[in-house]
Amino acid sequence: MSRADRFLKACRLESVDAVPVWLMRQAGRYMQEYRDIRGRHSFLELCKRPSLAVEVMLQPLDAFELDAAILFSDILVLVEAMGIEVRYEERQGPILPDPPRTPEALRSLRAPDPEEDLGFVLEAIRLGREALAGRVPLIGFAGAPFTLATYILEGGSPRDFLSTKKLMYQLPDAFGSLMMTLTEAVASFLRAQAEAGAQALQIFDTWAVALAPADYERYVLAHMQRLVEEVRSAADVPIIYFSLGASTLAGLLKLVGADVISFDWKIDLGEARALLGPRIAVQGNLDPLALFQPREVLERTVRLIVEKAGRWPGYIFNLGHGIHPSTPVDRVAFLVETVHSCLPCARREGGAG
Ligand code: CP3
Repeated sequence: MSRADRFLKACRLESVDAVPVWLMRQAGRYMQEYRDIRGRHSFLELCKRPSLAVEVMLQPLDAFELDAAILFSDILVLVEAMGIEVRYEERQGPILPDPPRTPEALRSLRAPDPEEDLGFVLEAIRLGREALAGRVPLIGFAGAPFTLATYILEGGSPRDFLSTKKLMYQLPDAFGSLMMTLTEAVASFLRAQAEAGAQALQIFDTWAVALAPADYERYVLAHMQRLVEEVRSAADVPIIYFSLGASTLAGLLKLVGADVISFDWKIDLGEARALLGPRIAVQGNLDPLALFQPREVLERTVRLIVEKAGRWPGYIFNLGHGIHPSTPVDRVAFLVETVHSCLPCARREGGAG
């Protein structure tokens, strides 16, 4: 067994020869190679030109012994494909200058056709699989309906979630119909990614962290269940569900139907496992800023996380959120080596490797 299959085996709860590791935002500004290419092309150009997207996707794989590649793209390409303008402003993150806000405008939104409107993503997956040539699996991804709704309703990165929660509480039907359209859009986009060659799919629900558990249950859970069901009925690939809110919402996220839940750093993974039970794999959960710890401290932090992740298979090492752009590259290399030097659970138990 090697880098080629340990990530997918862990997603499927099978035993592995080493703990698989990949990092959210592994392609990005903390790497000089990325900053060089960004000096010549805008972020959107990187996303929209499949040859560039593949080049950037491969940068961290050439630099570190990572066990999975993730498509280089953004969760908001789907929003743009729905006819909503998205701009990426330096240091401000994404801005949607003229988002639909009235119930009528929200009701008129339609799910895009993935081949027609997001063909550049599917092409990046096809080219990416060719370029990887089986070296490691390729993960496709999309934003979750709720997180996409927050960007649309807040007009950019959410701060207080005021517009989102006002719509959700005051006009629940309009909110529900937006969630239905987004669920349909995300489902067909993820199915198309799997068809194009994505070998696992991660759903980013970053901002579910803003919801009280009862509100997640009332306004979001059924949409997520439908989303996972629709993807699963068409694609036989593991589905990973990430949220910054996984620590507080684990009991509910368990009901979504994903194969893997990806945790932020605010929970001990032993506890996370106990909440999920033995049939769901876990991913996470190093605080991205722990990469600024001195090496000896970082090594202890990593070993503790792997230890806590438990005694049965189904564990993938990752950060609890995206890597910070100012992270020292040598610390990333050290992190990946340290993870691989930890014994995976099945081996520790004397099980088959
Ligand atoms: O992980 C990877 O290497 C794949 C690429 C990837 C990007 N965005 C590239 C990116 C992935 C998986 C995403 C997901 C994404 N995008 C999420 C969910 C995960 C999370 O971080 O919570 C969200 C909320 C977005 C929306 C988004 N895109 C934000 C908030 C920002 C600005 C933040 C920042 O770091 O500037 C982006 C821009 C973005 N997406 C960049 C990258 C590499 C930086 C663009 C640049 O080069 O200037």
